[in-house]
Amino acid sequence: MERLETVDPVILPEDDVQKLIAATGTRHVAALRSMMAGRWRLGELHGIHHWDRVLRNGLLLAGPDTDKMVVAYFAYIHDACRENDFEDPFHGPRAAALIDSLKADWLSELTEEQILILKKAVEGHTALLRTGDTTVDTCFDADRLDLLRAYIIPDPARMASLRGAEFARQIQDTL
Ligand SMILES: [Fe+2]
Ligand SMILES: [Fe+2]
Repeated sequence: MERLETVDPVILPEDDVQKLIAATGTRHVAALRSMMAGRWRLGELHGIHHWDRVLRNGLLLAGPDTDKMVVAYFAYIHDACRENDFEDPFHGPRAAALIDSLKADWLSELTEEQILILKKAVEGHTALLRTGDTTVDTCFDADRLDLLRAYIIPDPARMASLRGAEFARQIQDTL
C-alpha cells in the first residue's frame, strides 16, 4: 500500500498552520482561529493544537470533491462549545447552533449551501458514523484520526471515508 503521510498528534509549527490555512483559500479562518483560541477555557485535549491537526488531517484526506473551505471552518468550530474535556455528547449540536450567530461576519464568505454542509458536519461529528457526503465525512475522519492524542487507536471500521480507513489501517500497522 502507498505510504500515506503522517497524522501524528504533534503540535504543528505556527508557520505550517498558516500555510495550511492559506491553502484552503479562506479569508477569515486565520482570524477565527485566534478568536476561538482566545475564548477557549478548557484543556489541551480539545484545544487549538487539536483543531490545527484536524485541519491538517482534513487536507490530507481531501479529494477533488471535498470542500476545503468547509473543512477549515469545521476544524476551528467543531469543539468550540465543549463544556468539559470528558463526556459532552451535545457539544456538536451546540456548536452547530453557534454557526447561525457567526454567519453574518465570520462565515460571510460561505454560501448557504456551504453553511448547511458545515452545520451537518459540526452537528453530527459527535453522533454519526458517516453520511455519504464527501465533505462531511472528511470532517468526521479528520477529527477521528486525531484520537491518537488521547491514546485511542482509530478503528478503520469506524471511519467515515475509504481514505480515512486507509489512514487508520496504516496507523494500526505502525503500532
Ligand atoms: Fe468534538
Ligand atoms: Fe475534535
